[in-house]
Amino acid sequence: MELPGLAVAIWMFVWFYAPVGGYPNGKVREACTSMIPCHGSSPQLLPEHTITVNGTEFKPGDNIEVCLSGPDFEGFFIQARDVKHLDGPAVGSFMLVDRRLSQLLTCGRTKKSAVSHTSKTKKKNIKVYWIAPGDAPKHVQFLATVVKKYRTFWVKIPGPIVSQPDVLSPTTPLHATSEALSTSSPVSYLSKPFSALGCGSMKFCIRNPSNCDPGSASCFFLSFQKEESSVFIEMSGPSEGYLAFALSRDQWMGGDDAYLCVSEDHRVRVCTAHLKGRNRPLLDSENAIEDVSWRLVDGVLQCSFRRSIRLPAYKERFNLDAIYYIFLADGEAGEGGLIYKHHRQPLITDGPYNVTGPPQDIGGSRSPRLIRAHGALMFVAWITTVSIGVLVARFFKPVWAHLLLFGKEMWFQVHRMLMLTTVTLTSISFVLPFIYRGGWSQQAGFHPYLGCAVMVLTISQPLMAGFRPSRHASRRQLFNWFHWSTGTTARILAVVTMFLGMDLPALDLPDPWDTYTMIGFVAWHVGIDILLEIHSYCLIRKVEVIEDDRVQILQSLTSAEAEGHLFKQVVLTIYVCGNIVFLVAFLLAINKI
Ligand SMILES: *[C@@H]1O[C@H](CO)[C@@H](O)[C@H](O)[C@H]1NC(C)=O
Ligand SMILES: *[C@@H]1O[C@H](CO)[C@@H](O)[C@H](O)[C@H]1NC(C)=O
Repeated sequence: MELPGLAVAIWMFVWFYAPVGGYPNGKVREACTSMIPCHGSSPQLLPEHTITVNGTEFKPGDNIEVCLSGPDFEGFFIQARDVKHLDGPAVGSFMLVDRRLSQLLTCGRTKKSAVSHTSKTKKKNIKVYWIAPGDAPKHVQFLATVVKKYRTFWVKIPGPIVSQPDVLSPTTPLHATSEALSTSSPVSYLSKPFSALGCGSMKFCIRNPSNCDPGSASCFFLSFQKEESSVFIEMSGPSEGYLAFALSRDQWMGGDDAYLCVSEDHRVRVCTAHLKGRNRPLLDSENAIEDVSWRLVDGVLQCSFRRSIRLPAYKERFNLDAIYYIFLADGEAGEGGLIYKHHRQPLITDGPYNVTGPPQDIGGSRSPRLIRAHGALMFVAWITTVSIGVLVARFFKPVWAHLLLFGKEMWFQVHRMLMLTTVTLTSISFVLPFIYRGGWSQQAGFHPYLGCAVMVLTISQPLMAGFRPSRHASRRQLFNWFHWSTGTTARILAVVTMFLGMDLPALDLPDPWDTYTMIGFVAWHVGIDILLEIHSYCLIRKVEVIEDDRVQILQSLTSAEAEGHLFKQVVLTIYVCGNIVFLVAFLLAINKI
């Protein structure tokens, strides 16, 4: 049986390589905006193919002959665009010359606004006609993407520019403009961040951190808005590379339906992928995504698109009217849209959800519960119980010497109780990551090795204490020394282990806050330790001086000691308060991720 943890580990590896896949049949509608084929490598720079036209001027309704020619190529994609908005929607429509080699595609809402190949057969040239629309911009440029071989392709090869003759058309230009605005293709560039308005009432939202504002720079946001038979999906978050979500029938990877927004050369393309177990994501040859829009501002990547709830024609796309676990991941993308492993744990919803059901507004955690419990228990044990237990044993023997608790000296009882608590918490906490991973974690660096060392030392302490020689035995000194050095080694290793553990992907506390807070805690503890050490030293000196004087020995001794004991107790109280503040800060941080 696989454990959910393994799933997350697999998900992490699934993204190592570029998505592969192609469109041998030329139905490349999701390339409508970017004109980039999802071929997972970078485009060539110097074009070998040329676009030619049979005229440089046009009037609305005119036909222009467009030829694409050059060395043998397999695939192509041609559009006309407004020279002023080369990233904007396609302009005008096309007419075919040879149906065997070329086909018409609808990009955005303009029918037949692009031409592509029908098969991978090699060709040297392609001829089509472009029909100038009534609302054409003044200058139009032809652009072509050419695929020579799967990984050898050119994107947006610039072609000739054709212009309208400089005459103001007799039909009112104002009317033409307003019509152009209302009927033009859907905006491919978003003008503002998404809004959380309507989350839980109009749309199904997932936000991380919970209830964050998608306009802010640290908010991961995914929403599904049900329309009649389709769903409008918005995804945004801080990412220089890609954002992706996947619908999964279980909490681990395999057979999942994934959607990726990948930023590439200051553009964003949207791809779908089918995740098969540990394999690389397979991009589908066709996908059913429509109305793609995007925005990339200040490191926040946004994309939105629409798909039908049911897509019987696309076997790999899940129907959206069932319940799924939802994964939300982000990571880096390299040259040409290569997708790298995400360094952060993906967000996984705590249960399966129906995104077309009643709208909800949910959070989710990037950290599995078992790992958060592991972190929290270790913090309690190695920040609080062990530190107080050690201070009590080291400095409070004389202070509580005559106080008894359950028949034994108070300091000893307190020390033993705190230390046994530490051992118990550490042991429980120790097994949690193994349950979660289903074995040893290969990705956690030195953390698990150090953790095992700490565990061994921790267990050996109470065993050693159980066999300690009696107080006056000669080996008692040796025991004391061993007990102290084993404990100290364990504590030092534990602090190092915590430093390493806090930045592991499964429990990534905020940086650099976690490091500074941990340094703060160590300084606080060592500071108090040194203070008490100096104080003890001075007290002994004082007592020696008093003894030397041999004046009012008994009285002075007791008053000096009483003073010293009061001081120690005040310091201990202050220390415990500070210690708990550090502990609570860490626990709150764990609760927030
Ligand atoms: C270009 O070719 C089209 C289609 O054959 C034709 O209608 C148009 O008049 C030609 N344009 C010029 C400037 O020759
Ligand atoms: C999900 O919600 C839709 C719309 O309310 C509903 O038709 C469908 O049956 C639900 N699916 C499940 C599995 O609950």
